[in-house]
This record gives sequence, structure tokens and C-alpha cells, in this order.
Amino acid sequence: MRILITGASSGIGREVALALAADPGHQVLALARRSEPLEALAQEAINRYGRTAISWREFDLTSSDDSILLEAVAGLGGIDILLNNAGLLINKPFEQLSDDDWQRQFDVNVFGPVRVIRLLLPWLQQSASAHIVNISSMGAFQGSSKFPGLSAYSASKAALANLTECLAEEFKDRHISVNCLALGAAQTEMLAAAFPGYQAPLSAADMGDFVAWFATHGYRFFNGKILPGSVWTQ
Ligand SMILES: NC(=O)c1ccc[n+]([C@@H]2O[C@H](COP(=O)([O-])OP(=O)(O)OC[C@H]3O[C@@H](n4cnc5c(N)ncnc54)[C@H](OP(=O)(O)O)[C@@H]3O)[C@@H](O)[C@H]2O)c1
Repeated sequence: MRILITGASSGIGREVALALAADPGHQVLALARRSEPLEALAQEAINRYGRTAISWREFDLTSSDDSILLEAVAGLGGIDILLNNAGLLINKPFEQLSDDDWQRQFDVNVFGPVRVIRLLLPWLQQSASAHIVNISSMGAFQGSSKFPGLSAYSASKAALANLTECLAEEFKDRHISVNCLALGAAQTEMLAAAFPGYQAPLSAADMGDFVAWFATHGYRFFNGKILPGSVWTQ
């Protein structure tokens, strides 16, 4: 399978990329803004698996040229799985959130995935097992516990979750499955910045293994679903 993952330079995305690269049948295209960690990721896959399983491109979801993405995907001959994993979390009380904060929050978490899906649609509809996986958050899941300071983040992730259901309906005749994982806490840079001192029940590697499995197998069992990933009962 040919798999594109955004936000692969750190945290969950990095671990998903490594887990996917373990399968000799997979080619992973890793995107993020920081080239150094992406280069290190590609090298780590070579060290672990003895082959070039991960290619990478510097790509800012909010500003990079479409051609970077399109040329990289053409180089792979297409895409079977798109993992919209990259995310931004702005943690501020509601009254301190500026228009610019709201714009940046939605630019990365909603309009970025929208743009990537639109660009890749011609390729995805040529795949026999196309799967779009949008990474959302438990904080965006209806009825879940909410946290002060995360209104813009959670609202943006809720928009991404809703988009999932809409696109699953719209793409169903093209055999493209679209699902959303509303993840619970995993120990990453983002989590540490949002909840200093909190220790998550799962490591980024634990979560990465699960997301990698879901991306490559979930399309057979789910379509248009928002799946809560929390280990808590709420
Ligand atoms: N960790 C958790 O507990 C948790 C819980 C629920 C949901 N999530 C979601 O899981 C996903 C991964 O988060 P994480 O915890 O692994 O956080 P992370 O370590 O901060 O990773 C975020 C990734 O997004 C990339 N990114 C940010 N802005 C970007 C932009 N403008 N263009 C391209 N890439 C961009 C970053 O790469 P560069 O900085 O190199 O661009 C980085 O690779 C996010 O969508 C997050 O909301 C995480």
C-alpha cells in the first residue's frame, strides 16, 4: 500500500510512519514542516527494516505549493491511504483567543486536510482499497469531557469529524472509505504543552501502532465512522 501521512515529524505521526514501514509491502510518504526530524525518520526506517520504506517532503499544510505534494504522490504512482494526522493545539481561555488564533487553528486542523483530500482525490479514486483517516480528538467527541482552554482546538477537531461523515457519504460510490479516530491522550509534545505534568496512559508508539493498524485494515469494517479512542469510560 502507498500511504501518505501528514505531521510525521513527531509524536503519533512519526510512530505511525515507523509502524507502517515495517511491512515490506508498504511505501510511506511522510510530510511535515521540519525537514531534520523527517530525514531522521527515514533513516530510522532504513536502520530498522533495511530498506528505504519512507520518503519525505517538507510541506506546510497552510502555505506550501500544491506541486510538492502532487509530484511526490506521482512518484509513488498513487496513494491508497491518506492519514490526516498533522495538528495544531492552541490552549487559551476563550476570551484571549484572537481572530488570528481561530484562523490558524482551523487552517491547520480543518482547511489543511480539506486541501490535501481535494488534491489527492483523483489518485484515491483509482485505488481498490482507498482509505482516508482523519485524526480528531476525544475533546471533539459529542458528550465527552471538555477542558478549559481548548475551545478552538476542540471545535476544529469536531469540524474534521463531521467532515468525515459527509465525505464518506459523498465518496461511497467511488469506493473510498473515510473514517475518523477521536483519539484519547498519548504522551507527545502536543499533550505535554497542553497538559504540563500529566502522564498519558498510552505512549506515542502505542497509539501509533493502533492508528497504523486501523489505517491499513479499518476500511474493510468501517465507513463514515467517528471512533472514540479513549481508554476511559466517559
Ligand atoms: N497526543 C494526544 O494526546 C492527542 C490526543 C488526541 C488527538 N491528537 C491528535 O493527534 C495528532 C498528532 O498529534 P501529536 O500529539 O503527535 O502532536 P505533535 O507531536 O505536536 O505532532 C503534530 C504534527 O503536526 C505537524 N504540523 C503542525 N502544523 C503543521 C503545518 N502547518 N503543516 C504541516 N504539518 C504541521 C507537526 O510537524 P512540523 O512542526 O514539523 O510541521 C507535527 O509533526 C494531532 O492531530 C492531534 O490533534 C493527539
